[in-house]
Amino acid sequence: MTRRSVVVMPGDGIGNVVLPEAQRVLEAAGFEAEWIPAGIGWEHWVEEGNPLPERTVELIAEHKVALFGAITSKPKDKAAAEIRDDLKDKGHVYYSPIVGLRQRFDLDVSIRPCITFPGNPLNFIRRGADGGVEEPRVDTVIFRQNTEGLYGGVEWTNPPDQVWEALNTHPRFAAFRDVPREDLAVSTRIFTREKCRRICEQAFAYAAAHGYRSVTVCEKPNVIRETSGMMLAEGRRAQKAYPDIQLWDTNIDAQMMWLTKNPEDYGVVVAGNMFGDIISDGFAGLVGGLGFAASANIGREVGVFEPTHGSAPKYADLSPSIVNPIAMILSAAMMLDWLGETELATRVRGAVASVIADGTVRTYDMLKLRGGPQAIAQGAATTEQMTDAVIATLRG
Ligand code: NAI
Ligand code: MG
Repeated sequence: MTRRSVVVMPGDGIGNVVLPEAQRVLEAAGFEAEWIPAGIGWEHWVEEGNPLPERTVELIAEHKVALFGAITSKPKDKAAAEIRDDLKDKGHVYYSPIVGLRQRFDLDVSIRPCITFPGNPLNFIRRGADGGVEEPRVDTVIFRQNTEGLYGGVEWTNPPDQVWEALNTHPRFAAFRDVPREDLAVSTRIFTREKCRRICEQAFAYAAAHGYRSVTVCEKPNVIRETSGMMLAEGRRAQKAYPDIQLWDTNIDAQMMWLTKNPEDYGVVVAGNMFGDIISDGFAGLVGGLGFAASANIGREVGVFEPTHGSAPKYADLSPSIVNPIAMILSAAMMLDWLGETELATRVRGAVASVIADGTVRTYDMLKLRGGPQAIAQGAATTEQMTDAVIATLRG
């Protein structure tokens, strides 16, 4: 294989614990990389007034691929209080660096696989009609539009005149016309055809490449007619190129209920930003939760790979660490896929699956223990032991 350069951004808290573990696994699998360290997160906010330093952006622009751990973010007043004294009142405003990254590099496609590993004690189980317990095999991959919709940031409390007047041209605004302006909050949900088309096309292409038989557009077009309607229309359009793959459409609310009724029926699911966020957490919960939830943020040129979990500050300083590195390792395997290193990716996922199936090495979450240093005496593996087990299996 060709030697690659990969930007590594551990970020804050347990990002610093799990990211190096994923690097160890990649190296053990035979992935040859030059690691390019880059800063992101709270320390850069405090010291520089910017949690996403420009030099980090430049490194990503240069190398095109990055692994990201997690960041800590805090409410507005806390963020303002913690910034270095000489940077206070200089107009610095905290903005989430991962949301910033998605926007800077137009990482519009988020991919979140939620796949049951046999033997994982955290898998969802369901009571069958005969009173017995069933463990449905969930194998769902969420395609979430990552840059627009309700998270696009176009919003106001007390909207300015032009906005209010524009809203007033809509007949249904009559219901809000007499509300005092300062008591009116508006968050827009803007979808563009280009982005709807791209997420739907990517979802179908992925389904075809990985043998999924259905793509479900999960929105709410009967009520949110314009935006959800556009996504569904683009889903129908994308399906035309894939006659063997069915297009299903579900409403987000019903889909949440079906998660516990028949989650095994869903293959690829595609949704706008907010519904995609919701549904991917829902499916992740069925297959082990945060310790297992991997994700990719894909643009036209750049890919950033990260676990869904955050910086888990309460476990950040534990030595030895107890957190589960699997979500980060699986995110690194998604990076291998994106780089075309399919065989390595498959081997890494296979090693993770073997360790889980074997069941000898389990982190505290897999034993359903309370997190904390005591978990180790109660039989939990450390973060490092879990990684070591994956590496031993890879080498096995
Ligand atoms: P979190 O994901 O950091 O942790 C929530 C809980 O999940 C932890 O206390 C722990 O019990 C469990 N957990 C998380 N990762 C785990 C792992 N690898 N293994 C085992 N258990 C794990 O979310 P929380 O506590 O809401 O937020 C903490 C900080 O992280 C906040 O500052 C938040 O803003 C930030 N955050 C950052 C994200 C990112 O970097 N993309 C995503 C989510 C939160
Ligand atoms: Mg994350």
